[in-house]
Amino acid sequence: MALKRKADFDLPENPASTVKPRLETPCDLAYPILSRPPRSSPAFQRPSQLLTFSYTPSRTLEFTDSALRYFASPPRNADLGYAYDRWIRRPEERGRLDGLLHAWTRVKRDMKREHEAAASKTSWKAPDVGVVSWRGVMTKILTAPYEERDGWELNVMTLGGTMYFEEHLSEDRLREKNDMEPRHRLQSYYGYAFESYCTSSDPNQRQDSESDATGWSGDVDTNVQWCSVAKTKLGDTRLIIGGEVDCVRGKYSGGTDNFVELKTSLAIRGAHDEAKFEKKLLKFYFQSFLLGVPEIFVGFRKPSGHLTTTQSFQTIQIPRLVRGKPGAWDPLICLDWGSKFLSFLQDTVKSGSQRDVWRLKFVPKVGVTAVVLDEIGVRDVEAGEDRVGFLPRWYWDDHVGTGEEVGKGINEKAAGANKFAIAAGWQL
Ligand code: A3P
Ligand code: MG
Repeated sequence: MALKRKADFDLPENPASTVKPRLETPCDLAYPILSRPPRSSPAFQRPSQLLTFSYTPSRTLEFTDSALRYFASPPRNADLGYAYDRWIRRPEERGRLDGLLHAWTRVKRDMKREHEAAASKTSWKAPDVGVVSWRGVMTKILTAPYEERDGWELNVMTLGGTMYFEEHLSEDRLREKNDMEPRHRLQSYYGYAFESYCTSSDPNQRQDSESDATGWSGDVDTNVQWCSVAKTKLGDTRLIIGGEVDCVRGKYSGGTDNFVELKTSLAIRGAHDEAKFEKKLLKFYFQSFLLGVPEIFVGFRKPSGHLTTTQSFQTIQIPRLVRGKPGAWDPLICLDWGSKFLSFLQDTVKSGSQRDVWRLKFVPKVGVTAVVLDEIGVRDVEAGEDRVGFLPRWYWDDHVGTGEEVGKGINEKAAGANKFAIAAGWQL
């Protein structure tokens, strides 16, 4: 995904913002009390896929499934350090929303066309969406109640009642992420190498031409990604979420039913490791849950990077696996918190102007604060690019210039290439 979660190893606590708040008193949302589960939690609607797209090796976004991969069993004892020196590594970037905005624009364009083709008497109105965000950001928000170490910051803008989230990464933080310690870099590579061992570009089986004797299906290029965009709803808030999908099991039918998330983790050697793994399952769970990915295939490895065992988890069963265990967590606490977080933000940001950029700061065990950025802060977010805040200018112009006009996308020539119509039932 354009936006990756922080790995367990690579973070200073509570990344410092370099930007001065304009407000004297920031707005606050206090941390939830973990020992007091909510009596009822907001409903989370099953995600429904709207569209898929691919990033090519040159990092071009196209509305095709060229980057789609199919699941293949990895070989025993696979060496996850294999071909490390050939890794084509996409540099860490700011968590821009551009790819998702292109996809969302395209979805709306197609909906508008359908509406017009149906010769409906009512005029076209864009869907009433509360949030547009990458899945990684939503995962951070929902898992915050159990986050004990890593703070994060978001930039938030609102246009026509829709909030847009971008993870805020300062220049210093970006530099840090790009200059990862060699050991951490290698550990990060293990996860990608696992993806190569577990996937194939052929839905039926590995072809000799694409996998060598080791089961390796091709060198890692982290520019290439296959992404899914889904609509869902938390409480009363409709969400548009985009994220990377690692592979599908069997043939791709156009839905999320056979999506598979691939994960690696250190082999479990005792009760302490088990509790640690169960904590990690919280992130695995929400990461997949948010896009409707039903299966998480975990490769356990030795510290040396050799695979020991694998295990497949059904996403929806994960909360039951951890219930009552030492590393237990309760997804209802997360959903309740997530819903309060969104309401808090909606109430906070509605006061200002459309050009306002809010900086949300999450501090583990404390809560979140929101401040509106001053001019210098906004300039820092724009980073000299053609943007209004973090939104690309073309997107801003589409919405502010002409209301909810849609139709400006990229790769329009590939219009016929995307096989999937918009999911039925998008009635708002
Ligand atoms: P693991 O999750 O198996 O460790 P994802 O599973 O989210 O699709 O990410 C694929 C891999 O990218 C991860 O595999 C991990 O190796 C690497 N990765 C993800 N986020 C990272 C980060 N912030 N820093 C370093 N590596 C990261
Ligand atoms: Mg993965």
